[in-house]
Amino acid sequence: MHGEQAPSQHAGGNTPSYAKRMEQYYEKRVAGAWNGRHILQGRVPDQTSVLLMSNDYLSLSNHPRILRSQADALLAQGRSAIITSELHQRQDGPRQRLLGRLAEWLHSEAVVLCQSGWCANIGLLQCIADPDTPVYIDAAAHESLWEGARHSGASPRAFAHNALDELEDLIVSSGPGVVAVDAVYSTYGDLCPLPQLVELCEHYGCVLVLDESHSLGVFGAQGKGLAAELGLAERVHFRTASLGKAFAARAGLVTCSARFAEYFRASSGPAIFSSALLAHEIVRLTATLAVIREEGWRRERLGRNAATLRAGLRAAGYDLGGCSSHIIPLYAGTELQAMELRDALEARGIFGAIFFPPATPPDGALVRLSVNASITQEQIRRVIDACRDLAAQGNALGLAAN
Ligand SMILES: Cc1ncc(COP(=O)(O)O)c(C=O)c1O
Repeated sequence: MHGEQAPSQHAGGNTPSYAKRMEQYYEKRVAGAWNGRHILQGRVPDQTSVLLMSNDYLSLSNHPRILRSQADALLAQGRSAIITSELHQRQDGPRQRLLGRLAEWLHSEAVVLCQSGWCANIGLLQCIADPDTPVYIDAAAHESLWEGARHSGASPRAFAHNALDELEDLIVSSGPGVVAVDAVYSTYGDLCPLPQLVELCEHYGCVLVLDESHSLGVFGAQGKGLAAELGLAERVHFRTASLGKAFAARAGLVTCSARFAEYFRASSGPAIFSSALLAHEIVRLTATLAVIREEGWRRERLGRNAATLRAGLRAAGYDLGGCSSHIIPLYAGTELQAMELRDALEARGIFGAIFFPPATPPDGALVRLSVNASITQEQIRRVIDACRDLAAQGNALGLAAN
């Protein structure tokens, strides 16, 4: 007997059963919305393909100095491979040095390291909200912020994407609380209106949480992020980030006060109940931080590449909405339409990432093109030509008039 059959076969009156939900997934999504084919089954790229599906924005995943430092640390690790939670980590040595450098870089008194951006947001919301805390989250903000709020026992309230009037109405009617937004939105590539958000939160006494996953390393001098670029770092209560994007690693962080950092390590679920980053990961992050600060040309190239691609796509008739970053959405509509657009792009050697519910609203599926620092001008031209070609052939997906 297969394990998954057990609950339905043995289901008593009150036994929860996932069998129905599982069947619905196969019937409604795989067979229905995706027409029998898995939505993520596209072509396999080859040597000539243009790859725009990675979050390695600064093209650091194969940086020789970073790889060498991690490899050396792995080979030399000896007893340091002991695996424990963040709570049990000694806050000295290389770990402490990295925390100090991150804090100085980000203009923050302290930083806590987490296993991922997901853990950073879950852990933070768990520490700052409770069932009586109003938590207001931008409707397009990352799922980890929602999950963190639910985890704290709060009932998060959505405000329409970047709609500060609506946020203000909610605060006026339900009282001050936590406001959580992304700096750069991971599906739309647009920015939050940070100066106005800071003003609003200060006016009403709200705590502002800013997820800088897609802006850290990319925006601001030395890649310090959006808040620092706008001179607002000290006015945002907590900045969080996944280091799985520009850092091309597996980790996350939260900026906070030194007093809060100790509280977080002793109180958040991920810090207590899940194993912490390993010594060789700390070494890798330290090397990566140095490269991110030093090699500003990567940010400049990324910015130029993204601007060229956005301009070319807009000139070809694509409606990119408020996108102003290295994340460029080609809006499709239904999941099948997004698959159709993905297939058409892949047939022309262009590989983006397909985004679909629950990562987008219903009928808001899209193909996301993530620009990086190492893509060439010739490759950008190929992407624009392919999209223009698609439009000329009558493929209206993603076009302004669509
Ligand atoms: C805005 C944002 N926050 C948090 C996360 C979660 O980060 P991680 O993949 O490191 O768990 C992501 C990743 O997709 C993200 O895009």
